[in-house]
Amino acid sequence: MTARKIITTQVAILGAGPAGLMLSHLLFRAGIDSTVIEVRTEEAIAGTVRAGILEHGTVRLLVDSGVSDRVLTQGDRHDGIELRFDGESHRIDFKELVGESVWLYPQTEVFKDLAARRRADGGDVRYGVTDTSVVDVENRPRVRFTEADGVEYELAADFVVGADGSRSQCRSYIPERHRRRYFHAYPYAWFGILAQAPRSADELIYANSDRGFALISQRTHDVQRMYFQCGPAENPADWDDDRIWAEFRSRVNGNGFELVEGPVIDKMVLPFRSSVHTPMRHGKLFLAGDAAHTVPPTGAKGLNLAIHDVTVLFEAFDLYYGQRSTAGLDTYSTAALDRVWKAQHFSYWMTAMLHTPPAADDFFRARQLGELRSVVGSRHGQAYLAEAYTGWPTPTAGG
Ligand code: PHB
Repeated sequence: MTARKIITTQVAILGAGPAGLMLSHLLFRAGIDSTVIEVRTEEAIAGTVRAGILEHGTVRLLVDSGVSDRVLTQGDRHDGIELRFDGESHRIDFKELVGESVWLYPQTEVFKDLAARRRADGGDVRYGVTDTSVVDVENRPRVRFTEADGVEYELAADFVVGADGSRSQCRSYIPERHRRRYFHAYPYAWFGILAQAPRSADELIYANSDRGFALISQRTHDVQRMYFQCGPAENPADWDDDRIWAEFRSRVNGNGFELVEGPVIDKMVLPFRSSVHTPMRHGKLFLAGDAAHTVPPTGAKGLNLAIHDVTVLFEAFDLYYGQRSTAGLDTYSTAALDRVWKAQHFSYWMTAMLHTPPAADDFFRARQLGELRSVVGSRHGQAYLAEAYTGWPTPTAGG
């Protein structure tokens, strides 16, 4: 038997994505010890292109908890979006409708800010580990892993948090008879590109058309992020720049609006699905972020939900270590799932309202346009979208 190095912590966190690192950061500020382990390297995470919209609550947390204020200086505040259909654009004015905004600030930047903050604060974050496993999540949890240098560890912790992404290993430690998976597959995916071009519009454009959905987003002053709906089996290699731009033009241009085009510097197909794994707690194991739920990107909710989970979980740990009360831990799953299901609905609704299913008939299209008109033509319809997109208010204690 090889001798494992035994180490201890209060909260062991699997996964150094935004959820895991944010939790570790909040715990540190409250004097609670944590160790984060991650199978990917720091460079691999920082190099993955992810979505880019932060709710105002996520921004406030990043700034107020001292992670970084780079989001305010380098991100872009967006006070609305455009819904485009039937060749016309309709602005949803978040600020006017619900008094809130979102920030365009890519998830990769959130990761870099959190990783830098944890490093500056002396946080114990170990990237590139292998052979991870967790034993005894019900009583005395221990996390086993091997570091990049080959040294094997056993990490004993009061609690284990699985923030280990959509293919979570941690959730498999919840016995099958105790867990449930809700799942919805969609008959389409997104073809995503990065293009070397200035932006085409000030705000994001969510476009519905006979040929399917397109989203015009942004990255920097000279790089833009755009997507169009495609089949899940689409192969990026079959799409050269001319074909890609022809597809975008046919879905978005018209009535005097033209996309600014440029060389495509990255292209990928992103399949998507909705899933929820319940409960989000079993014994001393807690799930957070994509490990417990995934949403299609149309509602821009994935990262924001993950951050909401760990905010609720942090408060539960803080109450436990401060007052030895398990009240927050006991209600974590229910409290987190409340927002998860609202976000599931919103993401599903945006997806269904804006995409064109492969077998859409005339009735479907006409009804869908009726749905879009009923949203943009009503202050109440617009306000639901605005409130959900910018992030529902978080219930305060007792309220
Ligand atoms: C992005 O910029 O990548 C992005 C923005 C909004 C979405 C999805 C992705 O709804």
